[in-house]
Amino acid sequence: MQKESFQVIDTGKDVIINDAAGARWLRLARPDKKNALTVAMYAALADAIESAQMRDDVAAIVFAAEGTAFTAGNDLGDFMRNPPAGFDSPVFRFLRAIAHSSLPLIAAVPGAAVGIGTTMLLHCDFVYATPNAKFVLPFVDLGLVPEAASSLLLPRAIGNLKAAAMLYLGEPLSAQDALALGLISAIVGPHELEATAAATAAALAAKPRAALLATRKLVRGGVEEVEKRMLAEGEVFRQQLASPEAQKAFAAFFQTRAARPS
Ligand code: COA
Repeated sequence: MQKESFQVIDTGKDVIINDAAGARWLRLARPDKKNALTVAMYAALADAIESAQMRDDVAAIVFAAEGTAFTAGNDLGDFMRNPPAGFDSPVFRFLRAIAHSSLPLIAAVPGAAVGIGTTMLLHCDFVYATPNAKFVLPFVDLGLVPEAASSLLLPRAIGNLKAAAMLYLGEPLSAQDALALGLISAIVGPHELEATAAATAAALAAKPRAALLATRKLVRGGVEEVEKRMLAEGEVFRQQLASPEAQKAFAAFFQTRAARPS
């Protein structure tokens, strides 16, 4: 198995990759845009998750973020300009990478987690969030549909009724709600957030590796059902992205922000 020295890699794509103490950290670093995810960021994340699987000195992947938001979800402008062309597109590569990861996934959520910012958490094993974090799925309001197999995994995680409130009505969950529903592992103060994620990663790295990875695989179950749902969602998502409903909602988002006093 390849051994590389741990290092910090600034991908130049608003994602900073940092291998430390047995974990691969993937830091969203576009705080001025609330870490909204561009195609380039999805590609960088997918590459980093895929390559981490090949490393026997990495026991977990940690998602972290700069600034006061985890991520505002898909960059709406980038999505309009570069709609995902197919299942090999960077966004689908990212989704497949988190669904297929053999390594445990940890998230440190320092604020708003919108769209994929929340749906990706359904693939995580440990989620720590600050008291001000909120979890929102505004897909329908944007003329879109759920992704990341969240139409399957969210009802399983929090029940049909809460999932309907989030997915159909776009009702946000507070950190307290998310904890009560089991969507996050713990609420942690902002200064302890990353240390808590690092401590969990270190605890995982200290475990017998084969037993840990085999246990995760058993707990997560078959990935086929998840991938099938991702593909079905992706088909509808792409149709909806080109729909007048979505075009109107996206234009309204940018008009509202452009109209604000600077
Ligand atoms: N795509 C592109 N740009 C985005 C974005 C997104 N999803 N979310 C935020 N931004 C940009 C804003 O346009 C703004 O840019 P500007 O400073 O050049 O005008 C900047 O990020 C800051 O966003 P703003 O809305 O002013 O910050 P806020 O603190 O008031 O609110 C959020 C933060 C995350 C709650 C809010 O930005 C939001 O709801 N974003 C949209 C989320 C969304 O619909 N995502 C799509 C999911 S599929």
